[in-house]
Amino acid sequence: MKRVTLTLMGLAAAASLAAQPLPAPDRAEMDRFVSRLMERMTLEEKIGQLNLPSAGDITTGQARSSDIGGAIVRGEVGGLFNIKGVEKIRDVQRVAVEQSRLGIPLLFGMDVVHGYETTFPIPLALAATWNPAAVERAARIAAVEASAAGICWTYSPMVDISRDPRWGRISEGLGEDPCLASALTRAMVYGYQGRDGWRYATDEIMACVKHFALYGASEAGRDYNTVDMSRQRMFNEYFPPFLAAVEAGAGSFMASFNEVEGIPATANAWLLTDVLRDRWGFDGFVVSDYTGIYEMIAHGIGDLQEVSARALQAGTDMDMVSEGYLGTLKRSLAEKRITEADIDRACRRILEAKYRLGLFDDPYRYCDPRRAARDIYTDAHRAEARRTAAESFVLLKNEANILPLERTARIAVVGPLAQSRENMPGTWSVATDLTKPRTLVEGLRAVAGDRAEIVWARGSNICHDPVLEKNSTMFGRDIPRDGRTDREMLDEALRIAADADVVIAALGEPSEMSGESSSRSQIGIPDAQQELLRELVATGKPVVLVLFAGRPMTITWEAEHVPAILNVWFGGTEAAEAIADVLFGDVNPSGKLPASFPRSVGQIPLYYNHKNTGRPLQGNGFEKFRSNYLDVPNTPLYPFGYGLSYTVFEYGPLTLSADRMTADGSVEASVEVTNAGDRDGAEVVQLYLRDLVGSVTRPVQELKAFEKVMLRAGETKRVTFRIDEPMLRFYNHALEFVSEPGEFDVMVGGSSDRVQHATFTLE
Ligand code: BGC
Repeated sequence: MKRVTLTLMGLAAAASLAAQPLPAPDRAEMDRFVSRLMERMTLEEKIGQLNLPSAGDITTGQARSSDIGGAIVRGEVGGLFNIKGVEKIRDVQRVAVEQSRLGIPLLFGMDVVHGYETTFPIPLALAATWNPAAVERAARIAAVEASAAGICWTYSPMVDISRDPRWGRISEGLGEDPCLASALTRAMVYGYQGRDGWRYATDEIMACVKHFALYGASEAGRDYNTVDMSRQRMFNEYFPPFLAAVEAGAGSFMASFNEVEGIPATANAWLLTDVLRDRWGFDGFVVSDYTGIYEMIAHGIGDLQEVSARALQAGTDMDMVSEGYLGTLKRSLAEKRITEADIDRACRRILEAKYRLGLFDDPYRYCDPRRAARDIYTDAHRAEARRTAAESFVLLKNEANILPLERTARIAVVGPLAQSRENMPGTWSVATDLTKPRTLVEGLRAVAGDRAEIVWARGSNICHDPVLEKNSTMFGRDIPRDGRTDREMLDEALRIAADADVVIAALGEPSEMSGESSSRSQIGIPDAQQELLRELVATGKPVVLVLFAGRPMTITWEAEHVPAILNVWFGGTEAAEAIADVLFGDVNPSGKLPASFPRSVGQIPLYYNHKNTGRPLQGNGFEKFRSNYLDVPNTPLYPFGYGLSYTVFEYGPLTLSADRMTADGSVEASVEVTNAGDRDGAEVVQLYLRDLVGSVTRPVQELKAFEKVMLRAGETKRVTFRIDEPMLRFYNHALEFVSEPGEFDVMVGGSSDRVQHATFTLE
């Protein structure tokens, strides 16, 4: 039997993982360099550094209608984003370096959110791996490819906690839990930037952590909506991944669109300066979100000049697209609404980022065409993306072990998403070459070998409403609406099902039904596909639902009636083969949910780490005058941390090394886990704590650590978690990060709802 002692993933352990601070001599050298440069800059040139337009399809310094080329020459541009291609980027950089007065190089940004051309699963799916090492590798590969293509700055990671799956952008984040999200945030920052501090190598890129803050809590899950929240909740539940990013050395932050305590984040000095810089020590720069400054006019806090001045003073250093800084700061300075020091501060931070990226040493260091030819979409990267995709899938149900499938079966694949190439990578795959991913049917055929017979029928359109369908498939251009009647499509599907041993129903959301501006009020499988599924189940053939989802979905009927469900999210460019790997059993699924799946939309927000209330519910039945619903249980359909395997893991009894702990001591919680089946597999062992009595109310359960252990068939390992005092801390009413003496409930298990308990007392 093996023994594994864990490094803690707990929030409290974060500080020890922090990246190296900037070494003093380097800092001094950088300060000297930037100061000398700024002495030579005019006011206009300083303001120019704060300006970040979107390039669109800019060509070699040619002025377009918006004249970005001319603006670069005039020194009015600090960076650009949305250019793909190393030659183009090199050409534009040359304009900045050779034609502007001071030759200051530009930053080149892009939303490299889950990979560049080799596209990994969407972030919510990456979170389902519960594997920080795999997530770090994914970000590392994204950095290698993006930097080979001229990009030095990515708008990722997106670390907004969200408990509202109506919000389409839950797909871009790391789930509902601060501990899991923090561990993965660190992994992503390290993957992009490296672990060793403040200077970037030529294959590392600067992270931009977004969206600071609370964007995932927009009311009713409607994108860009208002947020209102207590500071205690911010600090305990929504801020931890951002703090983890600062500790990991993230180079930049993006302000969120929403308001925080009545002031849009972009102009919120408490958020961007008091918390981010003064409290956490962040020393990079802050960029607004796309037109975030301009949008504050609509928020109703002033005209463009006013909101620009407020944003700058609050701590937003760079203006993405609004051109509010470019157009109004000079006037604001003349009118003494701002000071030159405000402009200098922001300008300095942006120049420091360029310095750290090495752009002053060599503005073309990210523009090596040999690397572009060699390092992008390589076999090794694709193999890693395929492994990671397979690891992200969550087996929700597998009645009578329908899965894995036999390679000799006759398989009917049904569904409009099963023959789409462009839909596979998922939202925000801006650099993906959409001709490259295989369709699910192609992937299945490639992996199954020639003894399986695989036939496909579309079965239905995405949904009945053509307008909703169009809005949800904007970038998935290869899912045109089928002109046949519903009946004709259904009959074809039923015909192939009748001849099959098993039916794979590849259904769910098209990829643009989640992501930005894709909130939904109903989060089930769209109607036309849902009806198709019911007909397939009614045939009595074994049906495997391969669920494409950018969010937790309400699949309550499916959970009851479909014998097997594999949730595959959006798995990136290699998703098709990865799905086949899991369906045919070459890979044993090990993903666990990073967010709760509700039974109905009315339960939302629904999350495992909730408070107890004064009228807690025991069990699932209705009780009068308790905190519950008349018509639906309080529990989720599938809880946080849940996910099945093709094997079975058995847990031995949970033991604690002691039942008392001093503030400088520790307690070990330990459990033996056995793979009791006949397949090798990986299990995520999860440690939760509950602080039973506090000066403020505490959640019923909080993830504090986890470990993914690989177990051969029949193998047993002991997993031990070390619990120490920093792990017990939380933000109290005064927002001090403290622990309080008293009793703690320790919970360990393979899902948030399947845990063993033990208790200890902090003295
Ligand atoms: C999104 C950001 C993104 C930016 C630049 C905005 O609409 O909210 O997440 O980084 O666009 O593309």
